[in-house]
Amino acid sequence: MQRPYRSQEGSKEGRGRIGEEEESFFITNYPDMILEDKVCIVTGGNSGVGLMTAVGLAKARCHVFIACRSLIKAEKAVDYIRQNSANPNVEFLPLNLASLNSVRQFVDLFLARKLPLHILVNNAGIFNHKGITKEGFELIWGTNYLGHFLLTYLLLEKLKISGSSRIIMVASDLALKPKAIPWNLLVKKTPINFLELYSVSKLCLLLLTNELPRQLENTNVTVNAVHPGFVQSNITIFYGLSKYLGLGISPEKGANSTLFCAQSDELKDVTGKFLDSQSQEIPLPKIATDIDFAKTLWEKSLLWTGCEKKIINPITNYDNFWGIYGLYSLKLDRTELSHISQTIFE
Ligand SMILES: NC(=O)c1ccc[n+]([C@@H]2O[C@H](COP(=O)([O-])OP(=O)(O)OC[C@H]3O[C@@H](n4cnc5c(N)ncnc54)[C@H](OP(=O)(O)O)[C@@H]3O)[C@@H](O)[C@H]2O)c1
Repeated sequence: MQRPYRSQEGSKEGRGRIGEEEESFFITNYPDMILEDKVCIVTGGNSGVGLMTAVGLAKARCHVFIACRSLIKAEKAVDYIRQNSANPNVEFLPLNLASLNSVRQFVDLFLARKLPLHILVNNAGIFNHKGITKEGFELIWGTNYLGHFLLTYLLLEKLKISGSSRIIMVASDLALKPKAIPWNLLVKKTPINFLELYSVSKLCLLLLTNELPRQLENTNVTVNAVHPGFVQSNITIFYGLSKYLGLGISPEKGANSTLFCAQSDELKDVTGKFLDSQSQEIPLPKIATDIDFAKTLWEKSLLWTGCEKKIINPITNYDNFWGIYGLYSLKLDRTELSHISQTIFE
């Protein structure tokens, strides 16, 4: 059985070691809850944890949208989810998180459907890819964090007016590692030490999980983050092969904590928490609970994604050393940023 959720505040004994997997706590079809008519979006719903999350939500009778970048994979995934859940209400909408324009187009397509939104699962992620996003951000961070930031931000109003809604960030226990954010690396091609950028991207998701409850005060929207465990998924060849090496847990089990966050009545009013693969609260490091730091990241993210109407720092000076304009303005100059803001707000 899934252990009941226990918050850190209420627990004297605390949680087990991160990554400590106790098979007996997992059940594959958790929970037998019916969420008829709830509308959900699962990013990266065509593979691994996201695919199994989508199956779980479809089994609970939700209307599920998987958001993925490959049409062929998405079509196969939709068939798989429909067949394994006996729920025809499963659809695909195109989303490439490594392009902020694609995120905006996804949101436009979803909003055009005039449906409510009750569950947003920010699951998609990359681990060891190298490069930059369409707008010139570091690829891992730009995909795992910034794309999800914009997606969530643009869907906030919809989540607020949909009654009771939940946002779930699929983070990682590696988010507990960074002691700082290397701002300058966020606008360059992925360095050799990609792990640092992966960990920072997940830390940023935790900081967003910290900031959003303040932004969503007096609404019925909750936001929590999960670490799915070490999962035999497609995120790298090693993770895929780990099944044959007898390591890690299946994607079904990896989806348990996300499904718990999405469905459990126990978490109805719980917000701003980070749960492990057994749905136990993970204590956050100081950096992830720093309110000022979370606010700074929020404001920078608004600027980077063109959602900040007022451009606070003039971005005219090109910095040769970092190869960027201004403090954290990337390759976008003032005119380009204004243009992005106008496109969004007018
Ligand atoms: N596996 C683990 O042990 C582990 C541990 C901790 C955290 N996590 C997190 O769990 C989440 C799910 O990963 P997974 O292990 O299930 O890996 P996975 O099987 O590789 O799934 C990742 C999903 O993200 C999608 N994706 C990647 N880049 C994208 C983009 N630019 N736009 C849209 N979708 C994109 C992938 O689509 P494509 O199929 O097109 O590539 C895929 O559907 C990730 O956030 C990962 O960081 C995993």
